[in-house]
Amino acid sequence: MSVDVLINEVGPRDGLQSQGKTLTVGQRAELIGALVDAGISAIEAGSFVSPKAVPQMAGTNELYALLPAAEHVAYSALVPNMRGYDLAVAAGARTVNVVLSATETMNQKNIRMSLEQTTSVCAEIMQRCRQDGINGQAYVAVAFSCPFEGETSQSVVRSLSDRMMEAGAGKVIIADTIGAANPRQVTGLMHDLVGSISAERLSCHFHDTRGMALANVLAALNEGVREFDSSIGGLGGCPFSPGASGNLATEDLALMLESMGMDIGFAAQRLVPVVRTAERLTGITLGGHSFRWLARQVESEEQGGGA
Ligand code: COA
Ligand code: ZN
Repeated sequence: MSVDVLINEVGPRDGLQSQGKTLTVGQRAELIGALVDAGISAIEAGSFVSPKAVPQMAGTNELYALLPAAEHVAYSALVPNMRGYDLAVAAGARTVNVVLSATETMNQKNIRMSLEQTTSVCAEIMQRCRQDGINGQAYVAVAFSCPFEGETSQSVVRSLSDRMMEAGAGKVIIADTIGAANPRQVTGLMHDLVGSISAERLSCHFHDTRGMALANVLAALNEGVREFDSSIGGLGGCPFSPGASGNLATEDLALMLESMGMDIGFAAQRLVPVVRTAERLTGITLGGHSFRWLARQVESEEQGGGA
């Protein structure tokens, strides 16, 4: 299925990993099933990380066995090291994501390795992916700002991105982990990266902490980027970066793109029941800026249809 813009749903990983309540593997599969039913075609299903570091992601191997086997859906999993890579491939993962943070402190806090160590581990995993016929993707986290070190060096982001491409990454995802970027910064960085890497191999991951996620999407769209991460209902945050609040909500991203006449492969309204499922499972109130409006559209159509 070809779409104008691909939405990669990260709620089941980025969203759930920071929740106080740990969902069962069955509940995580239920959330993913609801996303697939709504027409989402790319989903980060979970991560293969230490269950001591992130208990919310324990059992991702069992989760893989429960994933709806829809032909049009591509699942990915995050791995922090070669151990995670082996576990992911053994569980049936076909797309694997590594994360390297663009600052020294963030790497230490997140995966207890230096930037140099993380970079070489990620490069090794990307090389293994190529050998094994696995689709390898690399996240560059805290690409604009770091909760520990402040503004991120854009030349470091560019060189890490190049390094991952050279190692065989199929895609580099530029992540504003704490939601501190503004559209001017996004334009600057994505303009450079599109020039050196090409738009088809880039994606962006924004958080809505300061309410600028959609504006940042638009800035990246204008530079030619056609793939974005988002999280259903804005579920998310990052347990290792203080101040990181919710991800860009999938319904906000979907509605903006749809309103702009872009084909995303499904109707934004179909996300309304998925937000409700996510609320029921996590026990928290969710929903992006557009959620109430979207929910009212669904209600009035239902009432209209019944009259
Ligand atoms: N999957 C499952 N377990 C793993 C693992 C993996 N990928 N990698 C290591 N482990 C286990 C080890 O076996 C060890 O278990 P034990 O205590 O029962 O012996 C334990 O985790 C610690 O391993 P160690 O190699 O000493 O690592 P560490 O304590 O320095 O932690 C990470 C490093 C990377 C494993 C851990 O920090 C982690 O999983 N971080 C993930 C963070 C994350 O998901 N962040 C959000 C996404 S950006
Ligand atoms: Zn994130």
